Amino acid sequence: MGIVGAGPAGLTLGNLLRQAGIPCVVLERGTREHIETRPRAGVIEHRAVQMLTRHGLADRLLREADRHGVCEFRVEGRAHEVDYSSLYDGQTHYVYPQQEVVKDLVRAYVNSGGDIRFGVADVALHGIRSAEPALTWTSADGREERLDCSFIAGADGFHGVTRRSIPAGAIQEFSHQHGIEWLSVLAEAPPSTHKVIYALHPDGFAGHMLRSATVSRYYLQVPVEDTVENWPDERVWAELRKRLALRDSDWTLTEGPIIEKRILDMRSHVVEPMNHGNLYLLGDAAHIITPVGAKGMNLALHDAEVLAEALTAYHRAGDETGLAAYSETCLRRVWRAQEFSQWMVFMLHRSPEPFLSRLGQARLEHLIASGSSAGYFAQNYVGP
Ligand code: PHB
Repeated sequence: MGIVGAGPAGLTLGNLLRQAGIPCVVLERGTREHIETRPRAGVIEHRAVQMLTRHGLADRLLREADRHGVCEFRVEGRAHEVDYSSLYDGQTHYVYPQQEVVKDLVRAYVNSGGDIRFGVADVALHGIRSAEPALTWTSADGREERLDCSFIAGADGFHGVTRRSIPAGAIQEFSHQHGIEWLSVLAEAPPSTHKVIYALHPDGFAGHMLRSATVSRYYLQVPVEDTVENWPDERVWAELRKRLALRDSDWTLTEGPIIEKRILDMRSHVVEPMNHGNLYLLGDAAHIITPVGAKGMNLALHDAEVLAEALTAYHRAGDETGLAAYSETCLRRVWRAQEFSQWMVFMLHRSPEPFLSRLGQARLEHLIASGSSAGYFAQNYVGP
């Protein structure tokens, strides 16, 4: 098995395959230090944690992650809590930064004797429709190398080489630009409230997200095609203070040095099917989703679980049913998550069309007022 990409999907797959006794090699463009320190997502669903736990991959996560089951919506300066955990079987989110997940998965893979090559270049795929596909690459020290394998897993992200190796016309691509943009900010500031906050403000969405006791993540809806240069730190804090402000409350935003600022690509993209010949795509290589519902890493972990089970059944007994169903099984969850994220995007953002903004606000007010709407939110947010 050749696995391209050492993110959460590729590394989970590698660990699960090693546990099943299936030999594999993981190729990664970046250095180990780069992938273990790159800040990305931070929220893992109950179900994904259970999967990692079953495979002995969640020891540190279970020790260190905070569990969250309540979030807060702010609209017109008032705070409304939604206890989504009690609305959905007591299931919670785990707040654990993606780079920590990656660290744990690399360590488990390497400690079990797993083969991982960092700093590779020029990765190319050969014969993906044949029974013996191959990967070639240039190693970190400049040697030309080759791996003949039975299957290739493409877990190298949206801009990776694996999806691009599929001939045009063999897969269908669904793409949507959401017409909004987020400035994503990471700061060395303790959380201002021990909850995720979603604020709907006349000037646009603001989010307060959790990472650790000393670091927090914030999001601001900014005009499409805005740039980071337009957002000096003082402007970021002023805008966050304004959009997150509460009436009749002494709540304040805790500030700290900003360590990262990025404009996020608010695009959705799904390929169907998620395999071609003996190449199977996972995670962002197959689908990207807006970060609004915190689903991206969870979908990647689910793909890895489904593919590992399918490959294990094939390896043990020649059973191909799991492999044949791989794409359909994953896509069902991917489209469910896309639909839910779209529902949240619409609810939480200002649209250039005032009518649509008021509809979004009506959706949020309904979520706050109605048990059935809150139930829908809880099931999709922490589950399914
Ligand atoms: C995040 O932690 O980055 C995060 C949390 C909740 C969301 C979106 C992003 O809905």
